[in-house]
Amino acid sequence: MTDDEHSTRGEGESDPVDPPVGTRRRARTDGGVEAEDVDDVVLDPWGAANVSDYRKLFEEFGIEEFDDVLSEVPEPHYLMRRGVIFGQRDYRPVADALREGEDAAVLSGFMPTGDPHIGHKLVFDEIIWHQERGADAYGLIADLEAHAARGLSWDEIDEHARNYLLSLLALGFDPEEGDLYRQSTNREVQDLAFELGVEANFSELGAIYGFDGETDVSHMQSVVTQMADILYPQLDDPKPTVIPVGPDQDPHVRLARDLASRMRYFGVTEAYASFEADPGELAVIAQAYDAREKYAEDPDQPRCTEAADWLRGEGGARLDVPEDEGALDRAAESLENAGMEPLRPRTRIVNRRGDDAAFEALIDAVDGEKRVFEAHVDAFDLDRETAEELAREVEVEQGGYGFLPPSSIYHRFMTGLTGGKMSSSIPASHISLLDDPEDGYDKVKAATTGGRETAELQRELGGEADECPVYELYAYLLAGDDDEFATRVYDECVGGERLCGDCKEQAAGLMKEFLEAHQEKREEVEGLLEAADIELESPRKG
Ligand code: TRP
Ligand code: SF4
Repeated sequence: MTDDEHSTRGEGESDPVDPPVGTRRRARTDGGVEAEDVDDVVLDPWGAANVSDYRKLFEEFGIEEFDDVLSEVPEPHYLMRRGVIFGQRDYRPVADALREGEDAAVLSGFMPTGDPHIGHKLVFDEIIWHQERGADAYGLIADLEAHAARGLSWDEIDEHARNYLLSLLALGFDPEEGDLYRQSTNREVQDLAFELGVEANFSELGAIYGFDGETDVSHMQSVVTQMADILYPQLDDPKPTVIPVGPDQDPHVRLARDLASRMRYFGVTEAYASFEADPGELAVIAQAYDAREKYAEDPDQPRCTEAADWLRGEGGARLDVPEDEGALDRAAESLENAGMEPLRPRTRIVNRRGDDAAFEALIDAVDGEKRVFEAHVDAFDLDRETAEELAREVEVEQGGYGFLPPSSIYHRFMTGLTGGKMSSSIPASHISLLDDPEDGYDKVKAATTGGRETAELQRELGGEADECPVYELYAYLLAGDDDEFATRVYDECVGGERLCGDCKEQAAGLMKEFLEAHQEKREEVEGLLEAADIELESPRKG
């Protein structure tokens, strides 16, 4: 999670776009709000943790809706049920593994730049929830990142790190089952970061993060370190892994998914003939194959050249051609060059990084009819999924990583208690998990609400729970697992039965109780932390 302190941000980093003041907001029933009429969304891991329009994240960045997978998640967490966790990338393999009791992992990291607050609690809860459902759980302290990107000293980092860890344990993380580490002392993470760094160059980091000639080398190193963090749970054994984060971290997730695939020895694709086809061509060739009855002299053995002729004539006109415009011509040309070769569907395993021994082992492992080419093997009796598994197994046996692309889930940022965004530099806008419970009480009592100007109006029109930071507190935290309670607050508010004074009093009381209980728990887990396998003091200077 990031907060909005960005005093040490490099000059080359782009500024996130804040919503214009007075932007109209569309009401949602899940406690979130969406702003309309905003042109631009920038996801900046070191910028303000603020998203003005969640829909744009789906449209522009390809994040998928959490609702698409919700029904496949066993006993979903209340943050999932209430749409606080709104987005995901490729979460299905993780949900499947949890359901089937197969291996899975969860990992997230925390930059120790200040006190842990109720926004971080969302991530702590997400890690713990996955751990309770059998996933290998990892919580890491991003101390290298805090030092390089935010300029914190090692003493400050140690103090904050301890506070994050105590809250994570107090909320239920089991350090005996799970792993805690700090980036600076995890040798395996450093080594993996180095290897991943071989695959990522400066222009790429520049394009993703806006780095330029002024960016510190260590800041860049903290990026490859985060890539290594994300893939670390798979180091011994590839497995579905989820990274719960705020959407500002999505650029990191995308790069990690990319690097995971670039590290792979083998890639699996479909093919219809011996030549290589790009995805656009492949889509055309697949359709030509399906239409073979229409043009082949012997439909059991359609020839490449027959398909080429058909594509250039009547077939081409009727095809569902992919967006990529040249695909039809390229496909026809490749098919023509292949001449009398029969078109025959097959699963192709391409050797991208494997050495000769690895490729040999792969070829041996393919059962059934196969044809071996210089850099790929075509398997005629293997479906794609089996081929993927086989390729991964051989890769791991042969000393490769065999990474699965990491998955992610994204939660909404909480609105600040004073309206606007929640920011650690404005103490009244957020509640720290270390706040004196009385102060927590007072902050809630002083919070902005979605209430009307007078009690009469409120009774008549109802409150605007969707615009209310106090309602968010209920939905994100205070109602806990009790959906009925969260819904009741919402309905009573919008129905005009609930007035803000009482509502805030109730929320403030619950917040105080939560903070008291949490802080007591923190004391109780001190011993657990001392016993945990993580260095609490950095030997570093500076
Ligand atoms: N960059 C994250 C932040 O700003 C911290 C982090 C480091 C992290 N490594 C990670 C988050 C791996 C998720 C996964 O808070
Ligand atoms: Fe917010 Fe409660 Fe007022 Fe509704 S009644 S606007 S939820 S403070």
